[in-house]
Amino acid sequence: MKLLLLFAVVAITLCYATANAPLRFDNYQVYRITPRTSEQIAILKTLEENPQGYTFWSDVRMLGQPVHIMVPPHLKYNFQDFLKLQKLDAHVWIENVQKSIDNEKSQVKTRNGDFDWTSYHDLDGIYAWLDSLAEKYPNTVSTIVGGKTYEGREIRGVKVSFGPGKKVAFIEGGIHAREWISPATVTYILNEFLTSDNATIRAVAESRDWHFFPSINPDGYVYTQRDRMWRKTRKPYKNCYGADPNRNWDYYWMHGGASSYECSETFAGSEAFSEIETKSLSEYFNTIAKDVDVYLAFHSFSQLILIPFGHAGLEVPENNDELHRIGKAAAESLKNRYGTQYVVGNIPEAIYVASGGSADWARGVHRHIRIAYTFELRDTGRHGFLLPPEQIIPTGEETLDAVVRILNEVNSS
Ligand SMILES: *[C@@H]1O[C@H](CO)[C@@H](O)[C@H](O)[C@H]1NC(C)=O
Ligand SMILES: [Zn+2]
Repeated sequence: MKLLLLFAVVAITLCYATANAPLRFDNYQVYRITPRTSEQIAILKTLEENPQGYTFWSDVRMLGQPVHIMVPPHLKYNFQDFLKLQKLDAHVWIENVQKSIDNEKSQVKTRNGDFDWTSYHDLDGIYAWLDSLAEKYPNTVSTIVGGKTYEGREIRGVKVSFGPGKKVAFIEGGIHAREWISPATVTYILNEFLTSDNATIRAVAESRDWHFFPSINPDGYVYTQRDRMWRKTRKPYKNCYGADPNRNWDYYWMHGGASSYECSETFAGSEAFSEIETKSLSEYFNTIAKDVDVYLAFHSFSQLILIPFGHAGLEVPENNDELHRIGKAAAESLKNRYGTQYVVGNIPEAIYVASGGSADWARGVHRHIRIAYTFELRDTGRHGFLLPPEQIIPTGEETLDAVVRILNEVNSS
């Protein structure tokens, strides 16, 4: 009997691998847990480090800050025991993750469809659209390759330039593969800069050369078509796949808030720049860095505008006050459109210590870069990574308002 069962499991696993069918998340639940004591924080952090089948959708932060954990059906009772034992304040926040995925997936269009912001797009679709921009706007848009990936893909983007002699703004999206709203928002902003006739947007667009990279972890993004919850790169390590590319940059690498455990979602890699994605992109960045004065990274979710630096030791940028002032102004402009509320702060105070991030590296190594922010886009956990496609355009609009405000503040002072 046992043997038969084992055989069945092997057969099913093989079938799965051959068919390459997307993983299903039927009856996976997401719990929202609010830690009320420092012991509870410590317990959740231990679980986060070695999650044993659970998936952390958001990180353990401070007292009173909710943590979102996805629980597979076979661990449901274990998890409920754990919650009871630790007296954790918890609610089921998403009843069935597969349902949310179906809602999102039903509208995915690939390269043959028209590109728009009513649905999410796969990597081929995004890259084909970037190519089409270069054809449509040959004097303004050129395609660029920012680096390469473990599986041999290119990290592709576009340079947008309305004339010579401009400073450079660098925009990255998609470093965490499952944060689909990030590439969607980056492409939305890019499109507005090319097509909008709003005078304010035009002035901002034309005030810089722009380097847009909507998806800087392409292997991971492609893999999310199979495992929607994939976050890291796809380089194989001994026990697990992938490093967290936003813990892998060579500025105070592994100085807090990153894991040396391969299977952790925040595994920092075997050394700084162990991932070819971050290494090659950093080399590309170094070639343009002297002209860069604005660096924006887009993630989801939590509705935050994060200011460097994230590593332990509480270093702040020389113009920390200015970064707070402009960040708050951006959050105010963002809120004006749909009332979406963002929190602004240095990384350790707003969330938790986290080292090896891209914006920290850019700002830390190239000290002349005046502005570096990491956005955590919508929402605050209601849908988490599975933000319904109807929210892409509103997210794009309000985030564009914030970006325009940032550039206006920088350009006028
Ligand atoms: C132009 O764009 C700015 C920035 O996004 C926005 O605040 C403003 O309302 C827009 N103006 C019009 C007339 O739509
Ligand atoms: Zn992220």
